[in-house]
Amino acid sequence: MNMVEPIKDKYGRPVESIRISVTERCNLNCIYCHNEGQMEAKTEMRAEEIEKILEIASRIGIKDVKFTGGEPLMRKDILDIIRAGRKYMEDVSMTTNGTLLAPVALKLKEAGLNRVNISMDSVERERYRKITGKDMVDRVKDAIKASVEAGLYPVKVNIVAFPDSFDDIFKTIEFVWSVNAMPQIIEAINVGRNKKLYAIDEIEKRIASMAVDVRVRKLHKRKIYSIVYDGKIREVEIVRPMHNSEFCANCNRIRLTSDGMLKPCIMHNRGLVDILTPLREGATDDELIALFKKAIMNRFPYWR
Ligand code: 5AD
Repeated sequence: MNMVEPIKDKYGRPVESIRISVTERCNLNCIYCHNEGQMEAKTEMRAEEIEKILEIASRIGIKDVKFTGGEPLMRKDILDIIRAGRKYMEDVSMTTNGTLLAPVALKLKEAGLNRVNISMDSVERERYRKITGKDMVDRVKDAIKASVEAGLYPVKVNIVAFPDSFDDIFKTIEFVWSVNAMPQIIEAINVGRNKKLYAIDEIEKRIASMAVDVRVRKLHKRKIYSIVYDGKIREVEIVRPMHNSEFCANCNRIRLTSDGMLKPCIMHNRGLVDILTPLREGATDDELIALFKKAIMNRFPYWR
């Protein structure tokens, strides 16, 4: 247990988690991808560097890490990175496109990964290919099943919402439920390569009309709807980052780009703090802690 109190930013928001992009590289080319809001990377952090940054993070009260990319499984040393997360953090999770996941799901679990978010916007082969550029939906379906079997929990499936696709989205949700994973519908944001927005209102309305219950998660005030399906209560989470001041008011994370910049918010590139260059130049722990604090103090709610 990390007993260190988290640092609060100027708006009183405690920073308890870090989202680390471990590489910009990806084997898919999704039409809407926000690249985690990152500009082109100049370098890639080494596993030991990620470990050192996690150690520093743990000393200022950060206790959860999510590894993202690009595609994190493009890194040959991903197991070392997960072990580093396990050493310093309470919760270790990963967001992956799932195409490379099935064969390593159990190894990841053994290395200390608790849970996983797998991106699969459509269960339908041709639609998946159009969105991602690759005919790989079967591999992703296998990865979802393998992750559940490996005991990663929960296995969430990220479904970016397109407004024309409720039937397709619902088919995808049904598949996710059928393999005991949890679907999460995500509203697209227009940063990075993605300049388009897709309204999620209609989709949420349809979900809400089927729901027997709804609860609100602490993180980002995300809503989770319960729906009775096939005789069982199933859940679906809705993530609405756009024009949502509650989303920002309840944000507790700082980001780290794959080239080692602490990043206060996905939506913009103000207040970036380079922590990798000082680390490579031999900065002391106190100096690194000061850089973290500076980045945290650079946070402001984007929607307010
Ligand atoms: N808007 C919302 N979510 C996005 N993702 C990628 N690009 C966008 C975007 N423009 C989500 C995908 C993936 C995760 C890494 O980020 O669902 O699961």
